[in-house]
Amino acid sequence: MNDYQTMKKIQKALIVLLTLCHCLCLSANNSYNSEKDIYRKVDSIMSLMTLDEKIGQTIMYSGDWNKTGPYVTSDNMKFLKEGNLGSMLNVYTSKGTKELQKIAVEETRLGIPLLFGYDVIHGFKTIFPINLGIASSWDLKDVEEVARISAEEASASGVHWTFAPMIDIARDPRWGRISEGSGEDVYLTSEIAKSYVKGFQGENLSHINTILACAKHFVGYGAAQAGRDYHTVNMGDNELRNVYMPPFKAAIDSGVETFMTAFNELNGVPATANQYIFKDILRNEWGFNGFVVTDYTAINELVNHGYAENEKHAAELAINSGIDMDMMSGAYRRFLKELIVEGKVDETLINEACRKILIAKFKLGLFDDPYRYSNEQREEETIYRTEFLESARKIASKSSVLLKNINKALPLNNKQTIALIGPLAKDKRNIIGSWAAAGDRNGKAISIFQGIKEYLDESNIMFAKGCDINSNNYSGFNEAVNIAKKADKILMVLGEDYNMSGEAASRTNIKLPGLQTELIKTLRDELPNKEIILILMNGRPLDLTIEDSLVDAILEIWYPGTSGGLGVADILFGKYNPSAKLPITFPRNVGQVPIYYNVKNTGRPISNDNPTEDYKSNYIDSPNTPLYPFGHGLSYTTFEYSEIKLSNNKVRESEILKASSIITNTGEYDGHEVVQLYIHDKVASITRPVKELKDFKKIFLRKGESKTVTFEINSDDLKFYINGKRMIESGEFEIAISGTSDFEFNKTFNLTLD
Ligand code: NOJ
Repeated sequence: MNDYQTMKKIQKALIVLLTLCHCLCLSANNSYNSEKDIYRKVDSIMSLMTLDEKIGQTIMYSGDWNKTGPYVTSDNMKFLKEGNLGSMLNVYTSKGTKELQKIAVEETRLGIPLLFGYDVIHGFKTIFPINLGIASSWDLKDVEEVARISAEEASASGVHWTFAPMIDIARDPRWGRISEGSGEDVYLTSEIAKSYVKGFQGENLSHINTILACAKHFVGYGAAQAGRDYHTVNMGDNELRNVYMPPFKAAIDSGVETFMTAFNELNGVPATANQYIFKDILRNEWGFNGFVVTDYTAINELVNHGYAENEKHAAELAINSGIDMDMMSGAYRRFLKELIVEGKVDETLINEACRKILIAKFKLGLFDDPYRYSNEQREEETIYRTEFLESARKIASKSSVLLKNINKALPLNNKQTIALIGPLAKDKRNIIGSWAAAGDRNGKAISIFQGIKEYLDESNIMFAKGCDINSNNYSGFNEAVNIAKKADKILMVLGEDYNMSGEAASRTNIKLPGLQTELIKTLRDELPNKEIILILMNGRPLDLTIEDSLVDAILEIWYPGTSGGLGVADILFGKYNPSAKLPITFPRNVGQVPIYYNVKNTGRPISNDNPTEDYKSNYIDSPNTPLYPFGHGLSYTTFEYSEIKLSNNKVRESEILKASSIITNTGEYDGHEVVQLYIHDKVASITRPVKELKDFKKIFLRKGESKTVTFEINSDDLKFYINGKRMIESGEFEIAISGTSDFEFNKTFNLTLD
């Protein structure tokens, strides 16, 4: 060994010793450090870091457990060993993450632990209904429970960070990712956003069963032009602030630690390099101090957008917009140092980014014990715990929306003979939906058929597939007709293949694919008087106009998850009385899209008495109204609402207005009802939607029982943004309490400012 090598060895030993001391004293009483302590410790570590190492913390590459985008490098191990990789995505299992963590901790100069991120969207192993389904429960406790259980399982499997919740408002069912959000409404999505964040992050991130949440995709992604994924978004500032941004602000209010950029451009500037949304709004106006990660390869994509000349320029634009971490593009790794030397990027930006990322690692306790999330025994004891599967069953029931039910076609009784027909009746692969994390598509999930068997003797169930989800093969039709003839009732389980929704799965046709509708028609023609119950698995609002005219009952179960078959059977046989309500409008046809309940009025609104009047805002070939409106969902019982009562019909800005209604269960079953409060600001400096959800309560009523539901409305509920300012204006407001968004206002109040 020559002198130089000896010197290097001594130097390395010193650094390791110094780092160890730092980490030890950092973690000495980490249970658990105040923010101030963490900041001090991070400063201390950063004082040891080279610029390369700091840049390394801003870089995230994928492992190959899962593929959620194109691979851009296979060199991630090399970067990891060099200490140039701070985070990885798509890696999990306690064993796998431990092996990777070992490299980061033991083989790199400073031993800074890796952060493992993963798309834990609606469950990790135990898969819950897709998010649009979860939103249909309108049950914030359930949403939190989903996120809590997801965090329990994911954290036991090495995952520190989920790329969720996805809180993009979406009003276009052509867009495949509508399945992953909570629907079209600002208030509902914002409340749900808070519950997801609370569930994932728990009370304190230092607890071993919590993971970082990520509010995504900032912002406007759900408004992709023509429903085509990744497409352009042009939107005025008022709409951006009043509709698309509030869920993100709600996530911050709930303490979300990270944000993800959106793929789309917004008014000509791609989100990933958009200083207005990230610097002006997120950081300066909202004071967000967590870190921002790009979406997958979104920095490279700035070149395709026509916004950056090349990838180096793209890296410059992104870091200068305050984007802290580069997911998969490799541009920060390749160019940041050069850009600093050239004076195009200020080194303080790298310091800030690195600092925020290290703070998150500290909060998770990774500097105390980098392997704390990678414990095989804990993983084994946690995954698929019985109570998780039970919760998934309950939430599958609570997420299934009864869209139609004539002549009490549902519930079924256990004496009937059933013809169970359809490509999804025995399915265990699609039932967990898209974005199903580490969910099992090969047998773990309970099919609808298995669920029904819990209630009905197998001899009372005849099965025929009838057709595939998406093919032109009629050969199974005869068998379906034959068994239907012998049965008391026909139960059809139809829908979309799971990968027809989710990322990069936009459709221009939102009907049931393949021959499925033909199959219903055939059965209806052959058996005009037999009840047909349609159970639907799909990831978007579909055009069900024909189906609605042919069948007696429709139960929208979305993709109900690992215990889906059981939860759905509980509804079919009346053990659970359906209570879900649509978080999104179902159009009559794709031509009505985008369609949502909280539209503006136009200068030529139609009147209900004469909806086809000429020179009014209508279609000449379709009604304006949807097939099923937002907030709609039937129960086996019926609820009656008394007239709304106000504490006053004049209210001052500083006062609270109370609005109440008596709800009575007038039917034959006990049940839950989602009571919804809507308001319409009649005249304002910018036009306001014809109705807006402002609050809701989910109540339980035994048959015959009545309850008074009271909402308190304060000035905050009446505010909206005009030109970047949150305003309240005096004047007349309409108000209603209802079980659906499909109602007419008949009560008003007047607001005066203080
Ligand atoms: C792309 C998706 O848009 C994003 O939501 C996801 O988190 C990343 N891929 C990582 O898988």
